[in-house]
Amino acid sequence: MKCLVTGGAGYVGSHVVAGLLDAGHEVAVIDNLSTGYRAAIPNDIRFFQFDLLDAEAINQILANEKWDVVLHFAALSLVNESMCKPFYYLRQNYITALNLIEACAINGVKRFVFSSTAALFGGKERFSLIPDDARVEASSPYGESKFLIERALVWADQIYGMRSASLRYFNAAGADPLGRLGEEHTPETHLIPLAVDTVLGLRRNLKIFGNDYPTRDGTCIRDYIHVTDLAEAHIRVIELLDHRSVTYNLGNGLGFTNMEVVQAVERVSGRKLPWDWAPRRKGDPSMLVADSTLIRWETGWSPRYSSIDVIVETALQWRKKHPHGYEKLVNECDLYNSILI
Ligand code: UFG
Repeated sequence: MKCLVTGGAGYVGSHVVAGLLDAGHEVAVIDNLSTGYRAAIPNDIRFFQFDLLDAEAINQILANEKWDVVLHFAALSLVNESMCKPFYYLRQNYITALNLIEACAINGVKRFVFSSTAALFGGKERFSLIPDDARVEASSPYGESKFLIERALVWADQIYGMRSASLRYFNAAGADPLGRLGEEHTPETHLIPLAVDTVLGLRRNLKIFGNDYPTRDGTCIRDYIHVTDLAEAHIRVIELLDHRSVTYNLGNGLGFTNMEVVQAVERVSGRKLPWDWAPRRKGDPSMLVADSTLIRWETGWSPRYSSIDVIVETALQWRKKHPHGYEKLVNECDLYNSILI
């Protein structure tokens, strides 16, 4: 299939691009490189650098060529930042997605895959697995912006027949098991890459936010899903889109506390991880764990890297090999080739 991927230079997007290419699909990427890295995209695929606020540019790409599927990852994604800049997040994420969805709909794209989020469930405390049909209660403008986009896709289906999959990711983590790609955010706010950097001595010490949550050890519980498993799920859902639109939770179905993640990092690295308690981080729900039975049942997908140790191991390997991430590569595009050396 001929696939157009927005945000293909970002963490999840680049792993999906790799998965699509490995499965034999043709891929082109759109990215403004505001948070993504050119080195995360293979040299030999087409790359368009522009912002999706530019409706004319996106329309041209969709009008000039026929695409079998469009996958949309490009977005602002820092939950905390969205609490400080709510209208910026709502505007940027919604308008860029609307530009893309409209261009797809009017140019006859029939399949669309959307990177949604479990953050649209974070507004309510839950102590059991979150079912696919759970009521949406976003805990941040970031989560809300993703829900608005899901709604736009409902209308694109009803009025233009553009089928879509909205995949509500839980906590994407880990790195490409072949070592081609990894997680690199500036600033980094996620637990696993911060813990990995700390255990490797790239940061001084890890703060664990909150020890008084109503969980088994007082720390928050999250559902970590390996980014390669996420990528695989995208490829599976594309096949369903000939018939109907779908919305799925996408997680492991396994919850780990923050302390269990600390222990996994120590176990896998064989080193002591220096950490301290810090107060609760605003907006963190106690527990977010997916009931992902629907996507498993309907697509046959199941996670291959569900063990927290494997997730941590791949993140650790990536960081050991690239302690400065993508930025310090001499030639940005050498990364894909580096595994051949
Ligand atoms: N945490 C720490 N110390 C840190 C960083 C994080 O204790 O330095 C804790 C957080 O408080 C939370 C847990 O680790 O309890 C996980 O936090 P992350 O920042 O790694 O991830 P979040 O669960 O906050 O958010 C992620 C994505 C969201 C997505 C959500 C869905 O960033 O986009 O998962 O579950 F919506």
